[in-house]
Amino acid sequence: MKSILVLNGPNLNLLGIREPEQYGSTTLADVEALCIEEGKRLGIEVSCLQSNHEGELVEAIHGAREGVLNGSCLGVVFNAGAYTHTSIALHDAIKGAEVPVIEVHISNVHARESFRHHSYLSPAAAGIIVGLGVDGYLLGINALVRRAGK
Ligand code: DQA
Repeated sequence: MKSILVLNGPNLNLLGIREPEQYGSTTLADVEALCIEEGKRLGIEVSCLQSNHEGELVEAIHGAREGVLNGSCLGVVFNAGAYTHTSIALHDAIKGAEVPVIEVHISNVHARESFRHHSYLSPAAAGIIVGLGVDGYLLGINALVRRAGK
């Protein structure tokens, strides 16, 4: 069975509690359960990881490389939270590991503060899903599956 990693960065462990007007009331556990469910529907093994630490996110991207190279992993659905706007290390990790990444943002970052308009990840990402709420994760999983079928 092919696999996909759903990776969440800083503060996304607070989903459901944090700024519900921006991010809604769905918790991270709910999101992960929905992603695993979507994976089952598509015949994909979905694993989930959240970290508030940049280096752990870098290592998670590195960790996906081998699976991508041997064809067992389709890629990573990644909401890097605020590291999106700051992290050259995550940009380099995606590029260096050659892992297909779908960048996801729950909120429409372009309708928010200007410091959220720039993403270091986007130039390295295979695709970007912004502002569609937590459905963005499920769309990201589907995007990786469809992309692999091309
Ligand atoms: C976010 C948007 C980021 O600007 C913010 O720092 C987050 C969440 C989103 O999902 O909308 O933590 O990535």
